[in-house]
Amino acid sequence: MIYSRIVGSGSYLPPRVMDNNEFAQRLDTSDAWIRERTGIERRHIADESQASSDLALNAARKALDAAGIKAEDLDLIVVATSTPDYIFPSTACILQAKLGVKGCAAFDMQAVCSGFVYGLATADSFIRTGQHKKALVVGAEVFSRILDWNDRGTCVLFGDGAGAVVLSADARPGIHASRLHADGSHVQLLSVPGNVSRGKIVGSPFLQMNGQGVFRFAVRVLEESARETLAAAGMNLEDVDWLIPHQANVRILEATARKLGLPREKLVVTVDHHGNTSAASVPLALDEYLRAGKIRPGQRLLLQGVGGGFTWGSTLLTL
Ligand code: ACO
Repeated sequence: MIYSRIVGSGSYLPPRVMDNNEFAQRLDTSDAWIRERTGIERRHIADESQASSDLALNAARKALDAAGIKAEDLDLIVVATSTPDYIFPSTACILQAKLGVKGCAAFDMQAVCSGFVYGLATADSFIRTGQHKKALVVGAEVFSRILDWNDRGTCVLFGDGAGAVVLSADARPGIHASRLHADGSHVQLLSVPGNVSRGKIVGSPFLQMNGQGVFRFAVRVLEESARETLAAAGMNLEDVDWLIPHQANVRILEATARKLGLPREKLVVTVDHHGNTSAASVPLALDEYLRAGKIRPGQRLLLQGVGGGFTWGSTLLTL
């Protein structure tokens, strides 16, 4: 049997930090309201000169270093993003060029906040079939570019950043099981319903959201998906050392852990200082906890995504 294992991770946050008080100076909101409803205290915002591929490049280099692998050794690059550099080519192709390599397969994964888990499950499938041996999976976002900065209901929630892992073929798992889902009937809950046509923006280029609808949907499917993925791997919650859900909101994370009966100490939380970085949130959280020595090699992790589409899914792995 061929499995895939994470052999290195990396992440990157743009230097500019924006705290809640900056919103309170411009909008009818407060640090207290944002903290209480979301748990978010601050987020990083990319400079105008930085595209998703630049954030991805920084995270990718660190992941390659941690894995002890050269970019030339990669045979697959997957970039999960909803804020690509261009309409085309893919951000994965741009990243490949910035890494100074050519030839390996490269494509983007568009599953919004589930993008990293979708990308990881896809790369794992390619490795299991023997088609690829070393994959770079990145989540990279500049959500600050698709926010209406006058809409207090959405602009306070998000941040920019990137996280990356290197997956390598191995005789031992690695990734035990992944389960992915989507329900496209919920477009009205969360979308950026715009497009570019004949040189003009058609529709809206800004994120719109039904906050309470998203909240209820996310908590329900995160619980279902955790149970489904554990069952697929023949394991149960006691086998999980860390739950790393998509970092949308502390209340969503805590409600999910509570419904699963998972102790709070096993819940990874970075949304307080990253904000919601969409497809980047899970690899950013993983890399931060790994480098801090909280998550350790050999531990079992349940990674979870949920987001626009709606899309959702989980991956269970041993590090
Ligand atoms: N500051 C002050 N007041 C605000 C703000 C703000 N930043 N945003 C909204 N309000 C107001 C609303 O206008 C409303 O005022 P009203 O009663 O006068 O109409 C009031 O607060 C209550 O609004 P609700 O939307 O009912 O507030 P709620 O408690 O649901 O909190 C929130 C809103 C934080 C968005 C919450 O619904 C939420 O977290 N939902 C999940 C959304 C999410 O995580 N989205 C991320 C993208 S999706 C994903 O990643 C899975």
